[in-house]
Amino acid sequence: MELNFILNGNRVKIDVSPDKRLIDILREDFQLTGTKEGCAEGECGACTVVINKKAIHSCLVHAITLEGKNILTIEGLEKNGDIDIIQKHFLEEIAVQCGYCTTGMIMSTKALLYKTLNPTEEEIKIALSGNICRCSGYVQILNAVKKSAREMRGEL
Ligand code: FES
Repeated sequence: MELNFILNGNRVKIDVSPDKRLIDILREDFQLTGTKEGCAEGECGACTVVINKKAIHSCLVHAITLEGKNILTIEGLEKNGDIDIIQKHFLEEIAVQCGYCTTGMIMSTKALLYKTLNPTEEEIKIALSGNICRCSGYVQILNAVKKSAREMRGEL
C-alpha cells in the first residue's frame, strides 16, 4: 500500500506492506535507528515514539493505521544542531546508564509535556509507567522530567 504521513516534520510517502510494524518502517525504510526494540510486545517502552502528540509503542502499530499521522521520533527532537531541552536534562541529571530505554523515556516525556508543562509527580509516574529501566533507576529520570518542565515554563 502507498502510505503518506509526516515524519519528524517532513511529509513522506512509502510503499509498504499494510501489516509492517512502525518500528520496522522507521528502522528499515528510514534508517531512524534511535527507536529501539526490546520486548516487541508493548511491555517495555523502548520503542516509544510520539504520534499526534501521544506516546505510542511503535512495535504495536501497523502501517495501515498510519495514513496522515504526525510521527515524531528521537531524531526529530534536534533543531538546528541543538538537542531538545528534555535530552539536555537527561544528560545533566545522568538519567542514562546503558541508554537502551532512554529514547522511549524521552519520547514519553515529550508527549507528557505536550499535554501539560506543570505535571505533578504522579502524572510523571503515570506518563512513564509504560517505560521500563533496568539499570539507572528512576530518581534521576524523574528529576530530568521535572527540570525539563521547569525550563519549558521559563523557570530555569
Ligand atoms: Fe515495543 Fe517493548 S519493544 S514495548
